Amino acid sequence: MSIEIPEGLTELLQSFTVEVLRNQPRDLLEFALQYFTQLKDSETKEASFGNEQNSAPRSGKAVNFIDEAMQIDSENGEDDDDDDDDEEFTAPVINRFIRRASVCAEAFNPDEDDEDKEPRVTYPKTDEQRYRLQEACKDILLFKNLDPEQMSQVLDAMFEKFCTEGEHIIDQDDDGDNFYVIESGTFNIFVKVDNAEKLVGCYDNRGSFGELALMYNTPRAATIIATSPGALWCLDRLTFRRIIVKNNAKKRKMYEAFIETLPLLTSLEVSERMKVVDVLTTRVYNDSQQIIAQGDLADCFYIVESGQVRITMKRSRTKTDQEEEEVDIATCTRGQYFGELALVTNKPRAASAYAVGSVKCLVMDVKAFERLLGPCMDIMKRNIANYEEQLVTLFGSSPEIEQQNA
Ligand code: CMP
Ligand code: CMP
Repeated sequence: MSIEIPEGLTELLQSFTVEVLRNQPRDLLEFALQYFTQLKDSETKEASFGNEQNSAPRSGKAVNFIDEAMQIDSENGEDDDDDDDDEEFTAPVINRFIRRASVCAEAFNPDEDDEDKEPRVTYPKTDEQRYRLQEACKDILLFKNLDPEQMSQVLDAMFEKFCTEGEHIIDQDDDGDNFYVIESGTFNIFVKVDNAEKLVGCYDNRGSFGELALMYNTPRAATIIATSPGALWCLDRLTFRRIIVKNNAKKRKMYEAFIETLPLLTSLEVSERMKVVDVLTTRVYNDSQQIIAQGDLADCFYIVESGQVRITMKRSRTKTDQEEEEVDIATCTRGQYFGELALVTNKPRAASAYAVGSVKCLVMDVKAFERLLGPCMDIMKRNIANYEEQLVTLFGSSPEIEQQNA
């Protein structure tokens, strides 16, 4: 006997399930009622708009319930919204578990994306411009996992924008248009907290911003204002989604199962864990290769995906001897993490790490991970007590850790 699955059922249930997992509603039935009511509303509206082919990016609207990831009280910004979006949601009251409902302009399924049909965006550049662009992009985390062809398409599509001091590059709650890579200039980051703009950080002549709204189809999560004249490279939303988001989707598929098993991240919500995958990169090390050097400054931590990592610490051969030797203090295997201590304590690396055989690690860049680090910081601190015990067993005392803990 064969049962026919109605067309669209799988996609419908899949989207609903994703929204449930993202929002973790307390009242599932109520959530389902709102989700399907709004879906139906938007479908009806779309039908009544007819075939407005020219407004391509705005057609094919899908309801997107993604809860704003950065925990920003978006209710403050409701009035600033683009009228189009407000129109979509005059109907049911948005309850506390759907703090912000926004419209996803282009439904995107990386598996169904037909690259060849998409017109590619290209901005011609002089050799000098291309060189400057490449330099600005070489440390951009989101570009790290792109293959050469994808990278070249991204570089082709980027265009230059000069800005003046005081210029608002991004306003919180706006729709996302571009992703920005900084070539030069300084920028302040403001986030609304209790209706007031709070300065939460700044960029100093390097880095990138504006990825969140494009990756998660959410309103802009912060305001970015130039504090000097500057030069930016911009990547349009469609190219960003076609290449970067698609690439991240592949990465999610590859790492989702592994990430689920990591004790370090169990306190994160499912949606946060998925975002962890978006900000990780992988690195492979050969036997004996140094991964961390004791005393170095830290900007990332590591999770072992395969192989073994040896942790060593320098100590004087005798109490009066200036000469140091490196002593093995621990081994990390699949699923374990290391290199977090310096981030938690804001101190240089307390130990060195070496690959034993061939090793593959997930590397979490602390800047990209910052917003997710909050929930993990406390768990990361748990290992510190074990380190102390380890060192007391090995050396009889652990002045280094005691100092770091102070
Ligand atoms: P997006 O939400 O698209 O636009 C604002 C950008 O500011 C955001 O992406 C991030 O790239 C960047 N940003 C930097 N710091 C923060 C922060 N603390 N909260 C939210 N966004 C931030
Ligand atoms: P970090 O100091 O950033 O870099 C070296 C890492 O070695 C450290 O973080 C810990 O993750 C790891 N490590 C394992 N055992 C110890 C220990 N006994 N003392 C300090 N670091 C340790």
